Amino acid sequence: MKIGLLGCGVVGKEVRTILDKKEELELVRILVKEESEIDDTRMTLSYEEILQDEDINLIIECMGGLEPAYTYVKEALEHHKHVVTSNKKMLATYFMDLYEIACKNQVSLRYEACVAGGIPWIHEMNRVQRIDKIHSFYGIMNGTTNYILTKVAEGLSFEEALSQAQQNGFAEQDSTDDIDGYDARYKGVLTALTSFQTYIPIEEVPVYGIRSLSFEDQTYALNHDGIIKLLVQGVQEENEISLSVIPTLVSKDSILSKITNETNAVFMTSDTLKESGYIGKGAGGEPTAHAVVQDVLSSPTLFQKDIQEGRNHLSRTSSFYLRFSTMDHNCPFVKEVLSETTILTKPMTLKELYEYTKVNDIAFVMEVTQ
Ligand SMILES: NC(=O)c1ccc[n+]([C@@H]2O[C@H](COP(=O)([O-])OP(=O)(O)OC[C@H]3O[C@@H](n4cnc5c(N)ncnc54)[C@H](OP(=O)(O)O)[C@@H]3O)[C@@H](O)[C@H]2O)c1
Repeated sequence: MKIGLLGCGVVGKEVRTILDKKEELELVRILVKEESEIDDTRMTLSYEEILQDEDINLIIECMGGLEPAYTYVKEALEHHKHVVTSNKKMLATYFMDLYEIACKNQVSLRYEACVAGGIPWIHEMNRVQRIDKIHSFYGIMNGTTNYILTKVAEGLSFEEALSQAQQNGFAEQDSTDDIDGYDARYKGVLTALTSFQTYIPIEEVPVYGIRSLSFEDQTYALNHDGIIKLLVQGVQEENEISLSVIPTLVSKDSILSKITNETNAVFMTSDTLKESGYIGKGAGGEPTAHAVVQDVLSSPTLFQKDIQEGRNHLSRTSSFYLRFSTMDHNCPFVKEVLSETTILTKPMTLKELYEYTKVNDIAFVMEVTQ
């Protein structure tokens, strides 16, 4: 198989190293952005050169961002080349469009590395579905926020924990996508389309991040013998999907509470396998490149599922801890007033939560499962 690689950064470099050790996979072209990056005779600044090379039958995209990644991947599929990408943001945004071209042209579009890095999560969900229907999934899918939440639970301030995560290379300098939950939301969308064969548009997924996590929220968690985790959750009940990204209070005795620092953990429930899950490296050049090359090795086998665009029904019910910036004294969902700015809600649907938080000034949302 002849391969073109787009982007030679943290992931792309490790992909090159692994591919160069595998005789049956021939990396023939590598797209870079600047002349100064060229350190390999296979490197080029021209995507057109790669696209028009008919010997190249697979493109790996590791550039990140929406553009030009989306256009390049689209053109590759239109030129009947298989595609493997690690770019969750681009894929979660434009999935249906790209999927339809891949189906039409009978080529693979694979994305294992997009969700939970090196963990073979997408592969395992596809394998489980050869026998079972998947009913639900949940997981810690963002290493940066899990690192911050671990350190905050140990007593560091949010700012200290974030800066430590950046120093240790777990967090980007601009960590908005991580701490506001957007990165986890892309992964939730890709997990939902794999497990439920339904693409939910990103903006339909409620997302609550940890940017405003305060000492008061942390104290509430400690006093309730719990620990806060940013969870991606998807449930399909009677064909109604509920997909969300919400900081969640989990019991100190649960498996999730033991998933510390940048580690990821993902679980699903299905008919006969019941609950199953994985714990592992959610990011990092080598684990992510491993997932990319696994996809490359699987690509000649065409595996396209029937995926439809669908709705996020948000009918799942739960209780929530809400900390207001400006208290709503007429909140219809109050079960208990905890302080001047915090309440515990009665059980309410995710839809009610999403609608309510759109029009009220709420600083921090936490699902309370205990
Ligand atoms: N790092 C991880 O652990 C990890 C894990 C899972 C998924 N991912 C995903 O994998 C993708 C790549 O991540 P990364 O960490 O490897 O990022 P990165 O280190 O920034 O690498 C991206 C590379 O692509 C290059 N690039 C960007 N636009 C280009 C263009 N138009 N033409 C040619 N080259 C271009 C960049 O060059 P410049 O630096 O010159 O812009 C950079 O060398 C992202 O979508 C990320 O979300 C990463």
